[in-house]
Amino acid sequence: MDVQPDFFQHADDVHAWRAEHVPVFNRNRLKLGIFGMNCSNGCTITHAETTFEPTYQHNVKIAKLADDLGFELLVPVGRWKHFGGTTQFNANNMEVYTWATALACNTQKIMVYATSHVPTVHPLFAAKQGATIDHISNGRFGLNVVCGWFRPEIEMFGIQQLPHERRYDMAAEWLNCIKLAWTKQDFDFAGEYFQIRGGFLLPKPLQRPHPVVINAGNSEEGREFSARHVDFNFVTIATQEQASGLVSDIHQRAAKYGRRVGVMSYGLVCCRDTEAEAWALYRRIIDEGDWEATHNIMNLLGIESNSFNEQIKQFGERFIAGWGGFPLVGTPEQVVEMMLQLADLGIEGFILSWLDYYEELKYFGERVLPLMKQAGLRI
Ligand SMILES: Cc1cc2nc3c(=O)[nH]c(=O)nc-3n(C[C@H](O)[C@H](O)[C@H](O)COP(=O)(O)O)c2cc1C
Repeated sequence: MDVQPDFFQHADDVHAWRAEHVPVFNRNRLKLGIFGMNCSNGCTITHAETTFEPTYQHNVKIAKLADDLGFELLVPVGRWKHFGGTTQFNANNMEVYTWATALACNTQKIMVYATSHVPTVHPLFAAKQGATIDHISNGRFGLNVVCGWFRPEIEMFGIQQLPHERRYDMAAEWLNCIKLAWTKQDFDFAGEYFQIRGGFLLPKPLQRPHPVVINAGNSEEGREFSARHVDFNFVTIATQEQASGLVSDIHQRAAKYGRRVGVMSYGLVCCRDTEAEAWALYRRIIDEGDWEATHNIMNLLGIESNSFNEQIKQFGERFIAGWGGFPLVGTPEQVVEMMLQLADLGIEGFILSWLDYYEELKYFGERVLPLMKQAGLRI
């Protein structure tokens, strides 16, 4: 069952409403976000020195700066347990719905996302929290749906980890329940994983037809799920050449369902005045990397996730430097050139991480954003 909200008669009307009201649908050719700052070490599995702290006060400082710079989205990592190693990578992490609420109260325009693990939250509760945050933020809430691949995290809840393809079946039911709650006055749902009798939810979210939903499924099942149910898929880009295939795959799959799904990606930025300095920073992150935690993650992904199997062997270093995302390393001119090439291949946005989020975001605002504007990537 696919929930079709009935606020609009045509898909074009949905798009027009969102283009006017929802930042991730604005006219900037390449949207920008901050990824993973709610967790210790952010997205870099390293001991390299940084002033970054996963504290609430420090997150507020970064969020306000991103908001002032006109970024479109703040995306946290949904995490319940660390990955061991000498960094205890991601051990200290703020819960995502409360984080989104608090950051909404400290910002004006940027969207606040909650990265929610399907089996850990009942869909009615997720819908209620999402609708409430949408009101608190005046229509800036977004939901990042993750099925959960880190078995110890899921088992911590006393839940059995489902086989990979069934996780996406459950996610589809979960999200359909949420969309029903967000869009219908009264509703029932009878599924394999969830049953709702006499469903009711007020307040409804402010966004139409409902808050933006994103997902980073990369496997066959994950991409099908994204194509059918969400607004944006986040692809993992190994090489620039591969990006256009990933984009057209999502577009074609979505078209089968009469939908349009945007494609964004993620990556670590190492940007300095000279190329040598930028690569020196990248090398420092790798040289001081926590390989034990990285191997733990790669082993888990290899076992638990279909899509990363081949990639993790080739891109171990990339996990240390930004969770396997695309490394944007170079001078401001080179970083913008890479972004331009990826935008030309159909990538509509990037959620970024840095070793030192605040300091490097300041530099990004001063040196990279003006060049992005010149290049037509931002207005
Ligand atoms: C940008 C991005 C953000 C993600 N955020 C999380 C997260 O916060 N928590 C989590 O458990 N998994 C997260 N994942 C993992 C995905 O949900 C997904 O499991 C992974 O991309 C593998 O895809 P697959 O499940 O289709 O094999 C993220 C992946 C990407 C690319």
